Amino acid sequence: MAESNEAQGQRSGGEAAGAGHICPWWIGWLLLSPLRRLFESPERLLGPHVRPGMTVLEPGCGMGFFSLPLARMVGPAGRVVCVDLQSRMIAGLRRRAERAGLAGRIEAITGTLDEAALEARRGAVDVAVAIHMVHEVRDGAAFVRRLFEMLRPGGRLLIVEPKGHVSAGAFEGTVVLATAAGFAECGRPLGPGGRAVLLERPAGDAV
Ligand SMILES: C[S@@+](CC[C@H](N)C(=O)[O-])C[C@H]1O[C@@H](n2cnc3c(N)ncnc32)[C@H](O)[C@@H]1O
Repeated sequence: MAESNEAQGQRSGGEAAGAGHICPWWIGWLLLSPLRRLFESPERLLGPHVRPGMTVLEPGCGMGFFSLPLARMVGPAGRVVCVDLQSRMIAGLRRRAERAGLAGRIEAITGTLDEAALEARRGAVDVAVAIHMVHEVRDGAAFVRRLFEMLRPGGRLLIVEPKGHVSAGAFEGTVVLATAAGFAECGRPLGPGGRAVLLERPAGDAV
C-alpha cells in the first residue's frame, strides 16, 4: 500500500485526494457546533430511518455530530459502528461518547470500510449513513459497492452531501455509482433542491 489510512487521513487541504480533500481534523470541532442542529437536525434527518435495536454503520463519522444521536435512537440493544480515516476524529468521538454514557453502543474504528474489524458485520447492517463525506472518498464506486455488501438485504443507505462542495451533477454521479452497485433508489429526503438520497439493497438479494 503506497500510503497508510492514517497518512491519508492526516493529509488536509491543498493536496488532491481522489474525488476531494480530506476534511482537516480540527474542522471536526466546528462540525459539532450546537447551531448546526438548527439547520441539520440529526433527529429530523435520521429519525425516520432508525429504530431501536438496529445496527447502523456510519463511515466518515468525524467527531460524532450524528453518531451520538444515532446511539440514542438505536437504544441499549442497538449498535452504531463509526469509521473514520482520522484517529483524532475517532479520539474525539470516543471522548464524547464516554461523557454522554453512550460508549457501550458505539464501536469506533480508525480507518476505512476495508478494515478487518468490519468483516463480522458484512451483510448484517440495517442502515448506513454517509453524511458530508462521499466527496472525500478516493474511489466512490468501490465505496458504494462495499456499503452494498455490508448492508443486509432490505437494508438502507442514506447519502447526504453539502451543496457548497458537491454540484448537482457530481451528486447524480454518486447515485449512478450506487445503482450500478445494485442499490435501488427509494427517495430524496431533502426534496428536489437538496443533496440527499435514500437507497435500498433490494430485499430479495441474497447475502
Ligand atoms: C466533512 S467530515 C464530516 C463528518 C461528519 N459526517 C459530519 O457530518 O459531521 C468528513 C469525514 O469523513 C472522513 N473520511 C473521508 N474519507 C473517508 C473514508 N474513505 N473512510 C472513512 N472516513 C473518511 C474524514 O476523515 C472526515 O472526518
